[in-house]
Order: sequence, then structure tokens, then C-alpha cells
Amino acid sequence: MASTNAICNLCNQTILELLDFKLLLRYVTGFNQVELITKNEYELSQDELVKLNNLVARRQKGEPLHYILGYKEFYSREFRVTPDTLIPRPETELLVDKVLSIAIPNARLLDLGTGSGCIAVACKLENPNLDVVAVDKYSDTLEVACTNAIQLGAKIKCILSDWFSNVDGLFDVIVSNPPYIAHDDVHLGSLQFEPQHALTDNLDGFSHIKQIIRGSIAHLKKGGYLLFEHGFEQGEMSRKLLHNAGFIDIETIQDYASLDRITLGKYTLRNSNASSI
Ligand SMILES: C[S@@+](CC[C@H](N)C(=O)[O-])C[C@H]1O[C@@H](n2cnc3c(N)ncnc32)[C@H](O)[C@@H]1O
Repeated sequence: MASTNAICNLCNQTILELLDFKLLLRYVTGFNQVELITKNEYELSQDELVKLNNLVARRQKGEPLHYILGYKEFYSREFRVTPDTLIPRPETELLVDKVLSIAIPNARLLDLGTGSGCIAVACKLENPNLDVVAVDKYSDTLEVACTNAIQLGAKIKCILSDWFSNVDGLFDVIVSNPPYIAHDDVHLGSLQFEPQHALTDNLDGFSHIKQIIRGSIAHLKKGGYLLFEHGFEQGEMSRKLLHNAGFIDIETIQDYASLDRITLGKYTLRNSNASSI
């Protein structure tokens, strides 16, 4: 038997960050943050110790903490995540901020590549007047988004679609965090636990962005906006692609590390040339 207090001290013997270790300990005991401190003489059962050791071993092998816990906080809500979904990143909250700042009342919003549903659900919960459609190509992924929407009380429509293939109608805002990592990017090596189809296009990183811009021309209302997340070296090219497709008021937003992360533009021309990108 070992108390939670003694177990926390044992954390020094693992290579885990203390915060990760405490979250695993809370997961095993079911304690909240306060209980973890106040019940520091609680004796873990043999079962709990075995379970904790297994979780620590998984984490030590590099499995992301949030796949082990099964959730990730995004926009102050807990989203279920599984190995079928990308783990939402803090910088994607900036995309939500921007959508909320430009969406007109009762706007139709399309979230392409919804993953856990984090963008679509957060937007709907923050602005219940939005009419939100969330799309993903993979059914196991879309199921997680739907579950999150139901559990968090967001009434959104989930559609299985290869980008725009099953999407009807026009939208005021189209948002996406597409797979934008190039096949030869060194960062892919450290992201082996997350679904590769959520991360990379297996090409130069721009093929999905180009498809989304082309499709948006046919699915945006006049004066509607397209916003998408991209890699920190993809800002200039993203602006160029939007410009060539007939967008105006093009802007790139930087993330918390002052790196180019989100580009957006307003669509005004109904007859622009999609083949120019
Ligand atoms: C970078 S993840 C973004 C997930 C989520 N929106 C987020 O920000 O955390 C990209 C998402 O696009 C989806 N996806 C990839 N190719 C797609 C396609 N052709 N059509 C629709 N969705 C696609 C993936 O399944 C994945 O969920």
C-alpha cells in the first residue's frame, strides 16, 4: 500500500512531468484537484497501483497524456478525444475567437475537418444563434464530434464528407484547421500517436488548403469569410492563394509565439477563377 502523498514523491523517479503525473493519479483515484491535496494520506489499493503503473508506462512510451485521460480542455470545456481525433491545440482557440468576432447574427458556419468537434461546438456554445455544420471525412472521427456536441449541449449538424462533397448550400463563414504538415516535415516524427490523415496531406502541405479555397468559392455567400489554420511558414503562400482566388481583406493572425498561424479573407466575387489556384 502507498499513500497519494508518497506516490507523488515517487514521481521524481519517473521521467514524467509532475503535472502529468498528478493528472494520472487523479484519473486513477477519481479525486479532484482539492481532494488530491487534502486526502494525501489516502492509501491506494493494489488495483489502483497496478492501474497507475500501467498509465505511467504508457506515458513514458510517449503516448499523449490526453489520449490516456480521454479528454482535452478547449475553450473552457472538456472534449472527448480518441486516437481517431487530433488533440485540440491552444492556438486553435484563436481561430474560434476570430470566427466569433466576424460571424454576423444567425450566420451559417461550416467547420471543415471537425475532428473532436472542438471548433464547431465551441462556436455554437459561445453563440447559440449560429447555424453550425461540422464535416469530417472519417466516420470514427465524426462520431466523436457528434458525441461531444451532444454531451456539451451544442445543437450542430454533423456530416460525413470529403471536404465539400456532401455539403449543400451557402455559408457566411467557412472555417478549417486542415492537415497542413508537409510529408517531409521533421515535426511529424514526434506526432506518431495522432492520426496521420489529420496532420499531413503526404504532399507539400498545401493540397488540402487549395481544395478548401476552391470549394469555398462555390459555398460562400457574397461577403462571406474563409478562415483556416496553417503552419508557421505557410502564411505568405496562404495569402497569395486567397488573393488569386478573388478574396479581399486578407489577413494573417499570429499565434501565442508570434508565428503566422491563421489566414482569412472575405469573398466578394461570385465569378472568380477557381482554377487560378
Ligand atoms: C488538423 S485536424 C483538425 C481537427 C479539429 N478541427 C481541431 O482543430 O482540432 C484535421 C481534420 O481534418 C479531417 N480531414 C482530413 N481529410 C479530410 C477530407 N478530405 N475531408 C474532410 N475532413 C478531412 C481529419 O480527419 C481531421 O479530423
